[in-house]
Amino acid sequence: MATSDNGGRGVGRARAGANFALVKYWGKADAALNVPAVGSISITLDSLYTETTVELAPDLGVDELTLDGKRRAEDGAKLSACLDLLRRKAQVDTRARVTSRNNFPTAAGLASSASGCAALVRAAEAAFGLALTPRERSILARQGSGSAARSIFGGFVEMHAGVAPDGTDSFAEPLLDGAEWPLEVVIAVTAKGEKEIGSRSGMTRSATSSPYYAAWVAGQPPDLEAARAAIRARDFAALAEVAEHNCLKMHAAALAAQPPLVYWNGATVECLHAVRRLRAGGVPVFFTIDAGPQVKAVCAPGARGQVERTLHTVPGVLELMTSALGPGAELC
Ligand code: PMV
Repeated sequence: MATSDNGGRGVGRARAGANFALVKYWGKADAALNVPAVGSISITLDSLYTETTVELAPDLGVDELTLDGKRRAEDGAKLSACLDLLRRKAQVDTRARVTSRNNFPTAAGLASSASGCAALVRAAEAAFGLALTPRERSILARQGSGSAARSIFGGFVEMHAGVAPDGTDSFAEPLLDGAEWPLEVVIAVTAKGEKEIGSRSGMTRSATSSPYYAAWVAGQPPDLEAARAAIRARDFAALAEVAEHNCLKMHAAALAAQPPLVYWNGATVECLHAVRRLRAGGVPVFFTIDAGPQVKAVCAPGARGQVERTLHTVPGVLELMTSALGPGAELC
C-alpha cells in the first residue's frame, strides 16, 4: 500500500483553475478510456476555480459528493469511476466523502468539469497517500473529463490525443508559463443555469451524425501547429486567427449534427461580432466559445479594460467575469 504524505489523516484538499481551449477538443477516439479524437491547446485561468476536499470515509458504502452545498447523487457514478482509478493505484477500497465548490456557474460552458476533475484527482491523490507525477495526474483527470487533463497544468497547455490503445500517451503538458505571456480573459455570461446538452453527448452526436465531423478532425493538426507556433512567438494576431477559426469549425460540426446542437443564443452572436469589430479597430482581442452560450474574449496585455467596456454594452450580456492566467492544480 502507498504511504501517506498527509500525516495519514486520509484527507486531501486541492484547488484547480478552469481552462479554455483555444484549439478545441471535440470528439472521442475511445469513449471507455475517454481518449480524445484530437489534440487541443488551452489556457488555465486563475480566478475561476474549483476547490475540492476528499476525505476517506470507512463508514460509507458508496462515495458521496456535495457540490456547491448540494448533494449530487446523480453524479455519483462519474465520481466513483474516477476515485476507483486512484483506489486501484493506492490498493485501498475505502469510499470517500467529497465536498466541492466552484466559484463560478457549474455546467454552463465555463469548464467546471475540467477544474472539478483536476481538483478531485489532486485532492484524492493526497487523501489516498499517493505521490503521482504530473503526467499520471493528467492521465487520471482525462478519464473523468477530457479537458480536465489540461487543468493539471498552468498557463498555456497542450493535450496530446495519443495513439496508444490503452491511453497512456493521451495526456497534457505545459507549453508556456502564463507569466511569459500574460494574456487575460473577459467572459461574457449570456445565460445562467446548466446547459441542456453536455459536451459528452454533444461530441457523440457530432461524431455520429454531423457530415462535417471528419473534416473537423482532419483539420486539427495544422491548427495545433499554427497555435503552437503563435504561442512560441507570442504572436497575438496569429493566435487570434487560428483560435477563432478553430472555434467556429467546432461549432459548425456541432450545428450540422442531427438533431442540431445550437449552443449559442442571440447575445453570444452579438458578442462575437463585438469582439471582431474591436480587433478590426486595432484592439488585440479574440473570442472563443465552448459547449455553452458564454463568450470568452481573450485579450493581449493591456486590452482588457476596453474589451470589458465594450462587452458590457452588448444587449443580453448578464455579467462579465475576468481572469488572468493561473497555475495548475495544487494542494491548498
Ligand atoms: O472535457 P469535456 O468533456 O467537458 O469537453 C470539453 C469540450 C470543450 O469545452 C467544448 C472544448 C475543450 O477543448 O475544452
